[in-house]
Amino acid sequence: MIRSIGIDVGGSTLRVAEVDLRSGQAEEGMQSIPMPAGARPDDVLEVLARAVERYPSELPVGLAFPTVAQHGYARTAANVHDSWIGLDVQREFSRRCHRPVVFLNDADAAGVAEMNFGAGRQLEARRVVVLTFGTGIGSALFLDGALWPNTELGHLMLPGVTDVDGEGYAAASVRTRLALDWPAWTQRVNRYLHELHRLLWPDVFILGGAVSERAEEWMPLLDSPARLLPAALRGHAGVVGAAWAAATDRMAR
Ligand code: BGC
Repeated sequence: MIRSIGIDVGGSTLRVAEVDLRSGQAEEGMQSIPMPAGARPDDVLEVLARAVERYPSELPVGLAFPTVAQHGYARTAANVHDSWIGLDVQREFSRRCHRPVVFLNDADAAGVAEMNFGAGRQLEARRVVVLTFGTGIGSALFLDGALWPNTELGHLMLPGVTDVDGEGYAAASVRTRLALDWPAWTQRVNRYLHELHRLLWPDVFILGGAVSERAEEWMPLLDSPARLLPAALRGHAGVVGAAWAAATDRMAR
């Protein structure tokens, strides 16, 4: 399979594109659709089923979502409606769009995209942590290129920060919500990275999410014993990784 459809569901935008898996590039005409109000399963899956109608019917779909995605089921719902929890999303979306579907966590999708086509591609490092900074913080952990799926390191509590978890303290959305300038927000990211480093000792952090498009504003202000790399696929990583998962069927189990 050299082409498939990738969908990346974010807190505010749903991105849908056909992806060429030889290059890891999304085709022209990526669709960006606003998240339906309330982010309820019925509304989101309906909008997505309509969005994939335009692609050739033999192409499978990878659906990357901001939840723990286990054996096709959503197990958590941090930034979407609670009624996703316990839903067999893989089966339900496949029924609606009449295609094979692989359902996976959004940060895992971004992670496999970076490792196969982006910043992690030529890395010699054994232990790599990919982080996405957006509405929340997503994490994907790799050892020798293999993913430990569904790590939820955005919810780590930081020493001395008692009112919110890691993502409540340092997600990109916090920068916007509190109108922090880049240095003030980066200080928070440093604190988060230090705690992750203290616990996991990775060789490399790859930092992604929409803010990676402005990496020059904040990455020089970061400070970590690990090597720090900006994500290469930027806002497209989730879509590309979801399409890769659909084509390889690697994440369905
Ligand atoms: C969710 C994760 C997700 C991350 C990034 C967190 O709030 O718990 O599953 O990967 O946000 O979207």
